[in-house]
Amino acid sequence: MTDTPQTERSLVLVKPDGYRRGLTGEVLRRIEAKGYTLVALSVLTPTREQLAAHYAEHEGKPFYQPLLEFMSSGPVTAVVVEGHGCVPGFRSLAGATDPTAAAAGTIRGDLGRDWGEKVQQNIVHGSDSPESAAREIAIWFPDVTP
Ligand code: RTP
Ligand code: MG
Repeated sequence: MTDTPQTERSLVLVKPDGYRRGLTGEVLRRIEAKGYTLVALSVLTPTREQLAAHYAEHEGKPFYQPLLEFMSSGPVTAVVVEGHGCVPGFRSLAGATDPTAAAAGTIRGDLGRDWGEKVQQNIVHGSDSPESAAREIAIWFPDVTP
């Protein structure tokens, strides 16, 4: 028996490349068209502290410092999304991490490409589990219930 998807929340970021390219509305459109609800939304330039907390799992990896540089290079749109199965559901909408490999029909597949900084500028972030979502929502929206 497969589990019925639960109502849950995911933390989505439209990264600085998506913001600069004017793709925030397109990302939000796809989230809403899928049937998910926008619970909270904020446009902000992330601090180093926020990014270090958000990307703690990647500390020490070769792409960690360049990733923090990129993510603090301008505004992002942080969004709390809600809906049945929205954690894996948004990961599906986003597509594979590498935009060159991401399937057509996904955000990264349709709108992203290799900009010469492999796999870094891939437009969106989405939580990879409900536990990650709760942790990440607390970082970006301390006043919102995870
Ligand atoms: P995200 O966390 O942003 O939703 O993406 P993801 O789960 O698909 O990818 P993850 O492995 O968590 O990596 C986080 C972000 O780091 C950048 N990255 N660069 N140069 C590289 O090999 C590399 N690998 C990852 C990407 O911006 C990726 O989304
Ligand atoms: Mg990730």
